[in-house]
Amino acid sequence: MKTRQILLLIVVSVVLLSSCTTKKNSKQISSPNGSIVLTTFLSDDGKPGYEVTFDDGVVIDSSFLGYLLNDSINLTHQLKLDSVSNSTFNETWERSWGESRKVNNHYNQLTLNLSTQTSPFYNFKIVFRVFDDGIGFRYEIPKQAGLDSININKEETQFHLVGDLTAWWIPGDWESYEHLWTKSRLSEIDAGAKRNHPNLSCTLIPDSLAVNTPLTMEGNGYYLSIHEAELVNYADMTLHVDGQTHTLTSALVPWPDGIKVKTKTPMQSPWRTIEIVKEPGELIASNLIVNLNEPSKIENTDWIKPSKYMGIWWEMHIGKSSWAPTWNNPGATTENAKKYIDFASKHHIDGLLVEGWNTGWENWLDTATQIFDFVTPYPYFDIDEVIRYGKERGVNLIGHHETSGDVATYDRLMDSAYQYYEDKGVKYVKSGYVGDITPKQYHHSQWMVNHYLRAVTKAADHHIMLDVHEPIKATGLRRTWPNLLSREGLRGQEFNAWSETNPPSHTATIPFTRMLGGPVDFTPGIFNIKFNEYKKDKQVNTTLAKQLALYVVIYSPVQMAADLPEHYEKHLDAFKFIEDVPVNWEQTKVLNGAVGEYVTIARQERGTDNWFIGSITNEEGRDFDVPLNFLQEGNYKAVIYSDGPDAHWDKNPVSYTIDSLNVTNKDSLHLKLAQGGGAAIALFHQ
Ligand code: NOJ
Ligand code: CA
Repeated sequence: MKTRQILLLIVVSVVLLSSCTTKKNSKQISSPNGSIVLTTFLSDDGKPGYEVTFDDGVVIDSSFLGYLLNDSINLTHQLKLDSVSNSTFNETWERSWGESRKVNNHYNQLTLNLSTQTSPFYNFKIVFRVFDDGIGFRYEIPKQAGLDSININKEETQFHLVGDLTAWWIPGDWESYEHLWTKSRLSEIDAGAKRNHPNLSCTLIPDSLAVNTPLTMEGNGYYLSIHEAELVNYADMTLHVDGQTHTLTSALVPWPDGIKVKTKTPMQSPWRTIEIVKEPGELIASNLIVNLNEPSKIENTDWIKPSKYMGIWWEMHIGKSSWAPTWNNPGATTENAKKYIDFASKHHIDGLLVEGWNTGWENWLDTATQIFDFVTPYPYFDIDEVIRYGKERGVNLIGHHETSGDVATYDRLMDSAYQYYEDKGVKYVKSGYVGDITPKQYHHSQWMVNHYLRAVTKAADHHIMLDVHEPIKATGLRRTWPNLLSREGLRGQEFNAWSETNPPSHTATIPFTRMLGGPVDFTPGIFNIKFNEYKKDKQVNTTLAKQLALYVVIYSPVQMAADLPEHYEKHLDAFKFIEDVPVNWEQTKVLNGAVGEYVTIARQERGTDNWFIGSITNEEGRDFDVPLNFLQEGNYKAVIYSDGPDAHWDKNPVSYTIDSLNVTNKDSLHLKLAQGGGAAIALFHQ
C-alpha cells in the first residue's frame, strides 16, 4: 500500500471513529428544497434507524425500525447494510376531482438494502422518500429462499420526538375512530379514559397509551403529523406513546389470534408518513399522502363525478321518523322521497340518499346476522317509481348498504347488491359497518382493510362510487380508486342528534387531523340548530353561518345538505350558498389557522374563476382581515354569509346576515366570527 493510501485510510478511520462510534453506515438525503434532511444509520449492534431535521433543527431523533416475523425471524437488529440506491422523482399529475386539479409529486428517494448478519440469511429493504413537506418510508420484503409466508408479530417503527410535544389525539381504538380529539402533552395521554363510550356501537381500546393517526403535534416552531399512506393488505397502525422518552412506536391492530399481518413475499408495508411544516395550514395543503399512492387503476374515469346530495337521514337521527317499520313511522316512503326530490330538484341538489328502504332494519342493532339482503324494498317504498320520479327531475337516488358489521353476508351478496343498483342506474352507494364484525375481526384489522378494498374494486366493476361510513382510515387510496369518493371515519354531525354533542372546537380540529387522510363525509348544513320540536336536550353547537362555512372547510367530493326540506324552506336565502358551493376544485389556499381554534380556507371552483371561502372558529369569537390577493384579475361579486352581530352558537345560533358587494384582488374582507361561528363567502367572477 502506498503511503498516500495508508494516510487516507487513517484519516477515514479517524473520522468514522470520532463521529460514528454508535452509528455506522450513515446515509443522508434531503428534500428537493433542502429544508428537510433525513439521515439513516445502523447502530453498533446492527439496528437500522433514522433521524430527521427541519431547517437544521432535529424533529425526529434517533429512531429504530424493523420487524419481528414468523417464529423467530428478527429484523430489528444484527443487520448489515448491503447496498444503497438513490433516485429523484418530479412529476405533476392531474386528478379528476380533488382539492386541486394539479398535484406536484417531487421527492428524493433512498433505499437501504439490509440483510441479517448470521445464518439463516434474510434480506429486506427500507425505502425513504423525502418531500419538501415531510417524509414517507416503507418496508419491502422480497421473495427469497426460506421466506414465503409471513406472519408479522410486531412492526417496530419508532418516531422519537424532541420533547413532550402538544398533540391532538384520539385513542388507538381497534374498532372506531368516532371520538372527540383531546389536546394534551404526549406525557399526559390517557386513551383509557375514553373507554366504554356510551354512544359507540363498537369500541375497543386495549392500550391506555395508544393513539390513532393522523396524529398532529406542535413542536418548537414546527408542526408534525404522523399518519400512513396506501394502507393495503396490512393492519391499521396505532401508535403506542412512551410519554417519558417521547417515543411513539407502531402498534398494529391484530387478527383475533394476535398476529398483526398475514401475507406472503414479496410484500410491502404501507408508507409511514411524517408531515413536517412551519404553519399548521401547510398540513392541510400537503399532498404527501395522495402522492404516496399509485396512480388510478381505473382508466376511464368519466363516470366518476362529485355531487351534492340530500337524504332521508337526519330525520331518523333526530327521531322524526325511523329506519324500521316496527319502531315509529318509517322515513323511507315513496311519498317522503318525492317530497325531498321536489326540494332537491328545485334547488339544484343532484342526489337523494334513502336509508331504511330495504328490509331488515327491525333487527338492526341486535346481534342478528344475515338481516339484510340489500335488494328487497319494504312495501311502502316503490324504488322504481322513486328512481323514475328523481330522474325526471334531475335527482339521482343514492343507494345504501348498511351491513350491520355482518361482512360475511355482505361479501357473499356484494356482487348482486351492486348489480341490483347498476341495473337500476344508481351510481352512488353509501355503505356502513355499525356494530361487531362477523366473522370475528376488529374493524381496523388487515382482514377488514382487505374487505374495504374488495368493496371498492367490486363497486368499480359496476361503475359505482362509494361513500363509506365506519370505514378504515383514509390513506390516499382515492388516487388509485377514484370511485372511493368519501368516507366518514370520524365523529360526524350525527353525534349531535343522539350523543353528548360535538363541542364548537370539534370542527376546528378536523381539518388539521382526520382531514389530512382524505375527504370527510361530515354531513354539514343543519339549519334547525336546536331541533327542540324533536329533542330538547340535543343541538348542533355552531351558528348557522358556520354550518355553511363547513362546505368549504371540510373537504369532500360528495357533500350532504343534511337537514330536512322544511327546515331549509325557512332559510332559503342562506340555502343559496349550499346551492352555489361546488364540490370540485381547481386549487385550494389555506389563509389562516390554528389547530382546534380557527381556520380559513379559500377554494377556486373547478373550471371557473369563482372562489369560495369558509372560515370557522371554536368557542371563541374573533375577527380578522382576509386579503383577496389570490383572486384573478377583474371584478367579483362577493356574497357574504356571516354571523349576525348578536349570534352565538348556543344563545343565538340562527342569527345571520347576507351582504353583497363588489371586490377585486386589491381588496380585503373583514370577517367577524361569533363564538362558535363562521362565515361563508361566494365570489363570482363578473
Ligand atoms: C351510521 C352512519 O354513520 C349513519 O350515517 C347511518 O345513518 C347509520 N349508521 C345507519 O346506517
Ligand atoms: Ca358513524
